[in-house]
Amino acid sequence: MKDSSFFQCISCSNKYDLHEIRYRCDCGDLLDVIHDLEYYIPNPKKWVDSLNLNNDFAFKRYKDILLPSLPKEYLISLYEGDTPLYDISDRFPQFKKIMLKHEGMNPTLSFKDRGMVAGVSWAKYLGCKNIICASTGDTSAAMAAYSGSSCDLKGIVLLPKGKISPEQLAQAISYGALTIGVETDFDGCMKLVQEITNRHSIYLLNSMNSIRIEGQKAIGIETLHQLDWEVPDWFVIPVGNAGNISALGKGLRELFDLGIIKKLPRLAGIQAEGSSPLVHSFKNNFIELIPQKAKATKASAIQIGNPVSYKKAVRELKYFNGYVESVSENEIMDWKAQIDKIGISICPNSSVAMAGAVKLYEKNIIKETDHVVAIMTAHGSKFSNTAVEYHQDSTNKFSNLIKFISPKISNLENVLNL
Ligand code: F0G
Repeated sequence: MKDSSFFQCISCSNKYDLHEIRYRCDCGDLLDVIHDLEYYIPNPKKWVDSLNLNNDFAFKRYKDILLPSLPKEYLISLYEGDTPLYDISDRFPQFKKIMLKHEGMNPTLSFKDRGMVAGVSWAKYLGCKNIICASTGDTSAAMAAYSGSSCDLKGIVLLPKGKISPEQLAQAISYGALTIGVETDFDGCMKLVQEITNRHSIYLLNSMNSIRIEGQKAIGIETLHQLDWEVPDWFVIPVGNAGNISALGKGLRELFDLGIIKKLPRLAGIQAEGSSPLVHSFKNNFIELIPQKAKATKASAIQIGNPVSYKKAVRELKYFNGYVESVSENEIMDWKAQIDKIGISICPNSSVAMAGAVKLYEKNIIKETDHVVAIMTAHGSKFSNTAVEYHQDSTNKFSNLIKFISPKISNLENVLNL
C-alpha cells in the first residue's frame, strides 16, 4: 500500500516522513498525523456501510481513518473499544438526552487503551525496544499492559510519587513495566521523559506522540457509529494534558470532511478547579497558556498544570465553538456518587465531565433540548479510595454509610428495622 500519511507541524506546516521517530517539528511545535483520506477512503458511503458488517475489534474496524499505514501483522491489541454508550436521560430529566460513553470499560479500565493500541503497535513496527511515558496513572497502566502483551518491548513508566491511586500503581507493576516513582508532579515527570527521549533511543508514548492521538480518535468515531452518525449537540470531556480533546476534535473533523457527518457538535472541556490552566486561557480568548502548579484534586489523573497538547486543544475548541469550564471537588465527588449509584462505576476524572455538563446546563450554555454525550474516561475501580472516603463521611450529600455490628441477630434486625 502506498503510504499516504505524514507528520505535519501544527504551526509552520513543515512535513516529515511518518516513519521518522519524531514528536515535534524542528521549529519546536507539535505535529499532526495527516492522512490522505480520499486515498484511503475513496467512497465514504461504502466505507460506512462496510463498518456495519465488520466484526473486527474497534481499532481494526476504523483503522482506515486511524492509522492506515500500520501493517496488520504489527497490531498489538487487547480487544479495546466497543465500550457502552449509556442513555441516562430518564434519571436526569433536566437533559432531553444525556449519554455517557464509558471508556472505563476498556481492558485496562481507561480510554488510554485506545491510544496505546496505536502507539505500542507503531513502536513495534518501527523496531523500538524500549518505550516510555510519564503518567498520572492511566497512561502508564495502558502502556505497561500493551508492552507486556507484545513480549519484545520493554515498558518504562515515570510516575509522580504518592500522587496516583494504589490500583493504578498495581497495574504498572503487575504488567511488568519498569516503574519509577519520581519526587515531583506529572509536569516534572513529563519534562524528564522529554529529556531522556531526546538523549537516548527510547520511544516516547505520551500523547505528545501524535500516533497515539490517532488511536484515541476512535472514541468519538465509535460514539458516532453507535448513534448511527446522528451528531449530538455537545461532547463534554475532562481535560488534563489535553490530548484526548485534541483527538476527539480531529476525528470528528475528519468525519465531517469525508461527509460522513453532516453537522458539527460543540465541545466542552472541563477541568478541576485547582488544575485549570485551560479555563484561564479560555477566559482570555486563548491568548496564551500560563502554566500553573497544579493543586491536589480527587481527579488526580488530570492534576496537570502545563498541558502539552494545549495548542491542539485550542485549535479544536475554536473549530467546534467550544467552551471550557471548571468544577469544584464537591461537584466532582457528588456527581461521581450519583452516577455510580445507577450502576455505572466512574472515576472522579470522569465525573468532572458529568459535573461540567450539569454546570453548563445551569449556565444555560447547554440548552435543555440539547443532546449531550459526556465521555467517562476511566472506571471507578481504579479510584476505590475516593469512593470509600466519600461514603464514610455523613456530611456528604449522597453518602451511603456502612453500618458496623457485632454478629448478633438482634443487631442485624435493628439495622434492618425489623
Ligand atoms: N481522564 C483520565 C481518567 C485520565 O487518566 C486522563 C489523563 C484524562 C482524563 C485527561 O486526558 O490528558 O488527554 O487531557 N491521564 C494522563 C495519564 C495524563 O498519564 O494517565 P488528557
